[in-house]
Amino acid sequence: MSFIVAIDGPAASGKGTIARALADHFGFHHLDTGLLYRATGARGGDPVEAARSLTAADLARDDLRSAEAGQAASRVAAIPEVRAALVDFQRRFAAQKPGAVLDGRDIGTVICPEAQVKLYVVASDEVRAARRAAELGADPGAMLVQLQERDGRDSERAAAPLRPAQDAMVIDTSDLAIDEAVALAIAAVDRLRG
Ligand code: DC
Repeated sequence: MSFIVAIDGPAASGKGTIARALADHFGFHHLDTGLLYRATGARGGDPVEAARSLTAADLARDDLRSAEAGQAASRVAAIPEVRAALVDFQRRFAAQKPGAVLDGRDIGTVICPEAQVKLYVVASDEVRAARRAAELGADPGAMLVQLQERDGRDSERAAAPLRPAQDAMVIDTSDLAIDEAVALAIAAVDRLRG
């Protein structure tokens, strides 16, 4: 049986950084599931058709990291048929040996409810906006408005909304350095790996 680490949380909470660090540390595969929704939104046309026919080239586009791509992703992610089209790929990815780390919004609740470790990574709105603004060279005030709009949509949608799994461990990265947050996550995996 493979080992699955599910990491969920709002935009710019630090979940991607923690996911990559865990995958490196344990030699696990890593999937940033937000990329699937970003690539679906970026294709244009019928989002359901796009989600059903995503290719590696779609996932490698250079423009997927932008704030606009994030907003488009959040909009297509509210469509149940889009989400359904992406489930099998994510579950097959998660089943890879020796283990996999998936980060997103619904990994611990919908995609991999059987994950051995579930983390829910949060940070204050202001900290998240400042981080994303620094990454993208954008204005923090404008970024705050955008992040709150996106989190609102991701949390309030009917299909697989953003929320912690009942058995998730919450990590608040607002006042943590990256290596402190990563150390907490590594300790959580070590505890459950036995
Ligand atoms: O993690 P991210 O910012 O790249 O995600 C972009 C959008 O994709 C996010 O606003 C909501 C959606 N998403 C989702 O609905 N479910 C996931 N597992 C991952 C992302």
